[in-house]
Formats: sequence, structure tokens, C-alpha cells
Amino acid sequence: MDKNNNFQDCLTALKSQDNLRCISSDKSEYTLDLSTNDYLGLSSDVRLYDSFFKEQEHCRFPFSASSSRLLLKNATGHHKLELLLASSYNAEACLVFNSGYQCNMGVISALASGNDLILADKFVHASCIDGALLSKAKLMRYQHLNYEHLEQLLLRYRGDYENVYIITESVFSMDGDVADLERLVRLKQTYKAFLYVDEAHAVGVRGRNGLGCLEASDLIHQVDFIVGAFGKALASVGGFIICSALMKLFLVNHARSFMYSTALPPINIAWTHFVVERLPDFRTRRLTLEKTCLEFSKRLGVHTQSNIIPYIVGSNSDAISLSNNLKKQGFNVLPIRTPTVPKNTARLRFSLTADHRLKSLIPMIDILKDYEDNMVK
Ligand SMILES: Cc1ncc(COP(=O)(O)O)c(C=O)c1O
Repeated sequence: MDKNNNFQDCLTALKSQDNLRCISSDKSEYTLDLSTNDYLGLSSDVRLYDSFFKEQEHCRFPFSASSSRLLLKNATGHHKLELLLASSYNAEACLVFNSGYQCNMGVISALASGNDLILADKFVHASCIDGALLSKAKLMRYQHLNYEHLEQLLLRYRGDYENVYIITESVFSMDGDVADLERLVRLKQTYKAFLYVDEAHAVGVRGRNGLGCLEASDLIHQVDFIVGAFGKALASVGGFIICSALMKLFLVNHARSFMYSTALPPINIAWTHFVVERLPDFRTRRLTLEKTCLEFSKRLGVHTQSNIIPYIVGSNSDAISLSNNLKKQGFNVLPIRTPTVPKNTARLRFSLTADHRLKSLIPMIDILKDYEDNMVK
């Protein structure tokens, strides 16, 4: 069989499993978008944009950096953003990457070497796994949020490796459940491991100043690497890592996704700086979001630990048909399918934002209640 036939077979197999992904060209207007990561509603805040452009009126930031950070002649904006983030976290250093994906992939592949072990939560983001696979380190995955399992692996294998990296998300992107960061810090200390926490879905949303779950639990300084993403609650683009000054210099010299890619456009960097500076001011939005999540999950009868709320449906095809049904009625909710999530746990992933109001969510809850009643019958 020639290669083309193999590619076609792969696509046919995906289609038969209701798992063929396509880029949407759907132009329909939704009443409510429940699939966005714009958790604070900043990306549609016209007043915020206006005040940004007013402030930058005379700056005329370029739309391209035109070279990688290492070759960039005027990287003042990038540098200023890193200083701002490092000082917000009261940390030694910060390094900005072009995306959260490039950050995890570049950092993990640079850090871990052939004598090292990576212990990653089973549900960490693909970018962490890709970084681990690119490194020469041994990768083992502990069961999702199962710290007994993690400790068994540490007990058994810690002695065989030079460095051990424990990798977790704080708020998990698919289920919205939250890691026990205190416990992870204790394990890291006991077994002399590095702790790497991806806060992509918590930055902006959690913590008094919007720095994430580690800020909320006063653990920022107990963790070796903190990763955040600008493309979610911060309504921008890019990723960053908070680390020691030594590690920053190491990454500048070894993280290939940093070294060999054109830096983010200065206009984006200026916008990100503008938003990060205001993070503490978005407290009311954070509180509104928290309140809406509690009310929504109570009404729907599901448990939630964050503003990402999974609604388990079962098969891929059922999740797709429920999502299509909701879409027809004006609610954009994406189905999350196997193999992204375990078999028979295909789900709808509700992603609530500070702009959502319970009143407008109630008609959707009613549709879901009807769906449940019909399933029982
Ligand atoms: C936990 C987590 N980390 C990293 C990323 C990648 O971030 P970005 O979209 O900026 O590449 C994502 C994106 O979905 C994510 O969910």
C-alpha cells in the first residue's frame, strides 16, 4: 500500500470513531460562547482596548519583531515585560516565549537530560509531554492527581536518576480540577525533586493579584518553575516561565523554541504588558466569575473546582450530537472526545467567563436537564 493510502486510512479510521477534527469555518453567531479561554472577558472589552491605544498613541509599535530574541536589536519591551512579571511574582527571573506550547516544549526538553526522570501527571498538556519526549530523559506518568502513585514512583526510582522533575498543571485544562500543590511541594522537598507547575488556566483567574493558584496558596517560592500563558485570561499571545536567574540564562542558551523562532511582535508585547500591569485591578471580575461558577454548577448538579466545568456524556457521538443541539439553540460548547479524554468519558467542556450571567445560562441548563430526563426514560 502506498503512503497516500495510509494517510487516507488514518483519516477514515478517525472519522469512523467520530474523532475527525476539522477547522471550523462556521460563521454563525452564538448567543453565548462557552468554549473560550477569555476567562476575564478582556478580549471583548472595548474600553480596555481604547485606553491601551490612547496610552500608546505616539509609540507606533511594529507588528513584527523580524528576528529571534537573541538577535533583536531593540528588545526593551520584551525585557520590560519580563521584569514586570518577575517582580509581580517576587522572583529572580522570567523568560517570555512565543506561546505556552513553545514554553513547555522548549523548557522541558532543555532542562531534562539522559540521567533524569520526568514524572508527569497523566493529564498534563500535550506541550509538556512533547517537551519530555524531545528530551533524553525517562518519562513516567502518574495517575491523574494520584499522589500515592506519584510517591510510589519517587520511592522506587528516585535513587536511579540524577534529577527528577515533577510536572503538573494547577487547574487542569480538560476537567477543571485542581492539583494539590501543598502536597506536591512536600513530595518535591522530601525526594529532592524539581517541581514544574503549568498555570496556563489559572493566571488571571486565581490568586489575589491574578498570578495563579500558587499565589492563592502562598506557595510561589516553593516551586522551581511556574509557567503561564498570555493567550487565555490575559487576552493576548505568548507564554512565560518564572524561574531563577541561573535557569533563565540556561534556557536562553538551550531552549531551542526560544532561540530559533522570531520573537513576539512588539505591539503584542506592549499589550501584554498593559494587561499584566492591570492584573490586580481585575479582582471584581475574578469574584464575579467565581460566584457564577458556583451558581451554575449547583443548578446543573455538577461538581466544580474552577471555571472549567466538565459535563460527562459518554460516547464521542453523543457528545457531538449534544454539542450540535446546543449550538442550534445559540450555545457554543465544544465536545471533548476520546482520546483527549479516557474512553466513554467524552464530555462537553463549559468554560465560564466573567461576562457570563446565570440568567443567560439558565435556558442552557434547562436543555441539559431535558437531555438527562430523556436518557433516563
Ligand atoms: C495547560 C496548558 N499549557 C499550555 C498550553 C499552551 O498555551 P498556548 O495556547 O499559549 O500555546 C495550553 C493551551 O491550551 C494549556 O492548556
